[in-house]
Amino acid sequence: MRRTALVTGGNRGIGKEVCLHLLGKGLRVILTGRDFSACESAADELQREGLVLPFHMDVADGESVESCAADLKRQGIDIDILINNAAVLFNSDSMEASRVDWQEATEINFLGPVWTCRAFVPGMIKRNWGRVVNVISGYGLYSEALANSPATYGVTKAALTAFTYKLAHEVPDTVKVNAISPGWVRTQMGGENATRSVEEGAYGIVRAATLSNEGPTGKIFRDDMRLKI
Ligand SMILES: NC(=O)c1ccc[n+]([C@@H]2O[C@H](COP(=O)([O-])OP(=O)(O)OC[C@H]3O[C@@H](n4cnc5c(N)ncnc54)[C@H](OP(=O)(O)O)[C@@H]3O)[C@@H](O)[C@H]2O)c1
Repeated sequence: MRRTALVTGGNRGIGKEVCLHLLGKGLRVILTGRDFSACESAADELQREGLVLPFHMDVADGESVESCAADLKRQGIDIDILINNAAVLFNSDSMEASRVDWQEATEINFLGPVWTCRAFVPGMIKRNWGRVVNVISGYGLYSEALANSPATYGVTKAALTAFTYKLAHEVPDTVKVNAISPGWVRTQMGGENATRSVEEGAYGIVRAATLSNEGPTGKIFRDDMRLKI
């Protein structure tokens, strides 16, 4: 049976690269984003690699997430793999960041994955199989760069890491929930001086998306390497 993966923020950067590799593994891919025409263009580019369908989903808007889930249900599409990739990064310290930056970062980086999990994880539990991959960052890890992170980004990614751990303990072991830190990657967010290619950044995410039934849950990785919170 061909499984279906949904990727948030799939229209560019690491998300788009993840879509490419999941298609290469024979999965059906639902490529989502807040700009539908950008999703259509990305899906057009990727379509020769396999079955990829663009859908509108603004993760900051709970109603947009629910409406996308309802559209998928109407079309008879079940989501087996959820990749919470969409995020924003604002450069400022805790006291300097604007109220809007704190709100947007929280709504996109942290609450977005909460809403998508609430929309798609119950179906995974019901069907007895699922994979959730939350894309986090070294900036969100106490053991790495949280202390020196852009505040709204680091703190919301730390919250996403905590949510990963909590959710993994609430669902049956047939649904694996892991967090992946892709490293410093050359994208719009990472900039051109970053040390890793999008392919390298996507590797750990695709690995966690396609874990075997014996695979880990509630853990954090970069590539194959386990990280500490
Ligand atoms: N690049 C790095 O060095 C690095 C390092 C550590 C972690 N990460 C993580 O890796 C993931 C991908 O990052 P990237 O480097 O590929 O960043 P990117 O190039 O800036 O892409 C971010 C994606 O998120 C989408 N997005 C933003 N807000 C959204 C919303 N409200 N709803 C839906 N989609 C939304 C963007 O869509 P629009 O085109 O509409 O803006 C875009 O598709 C993120 O979680 C990021 O935190 C990246």
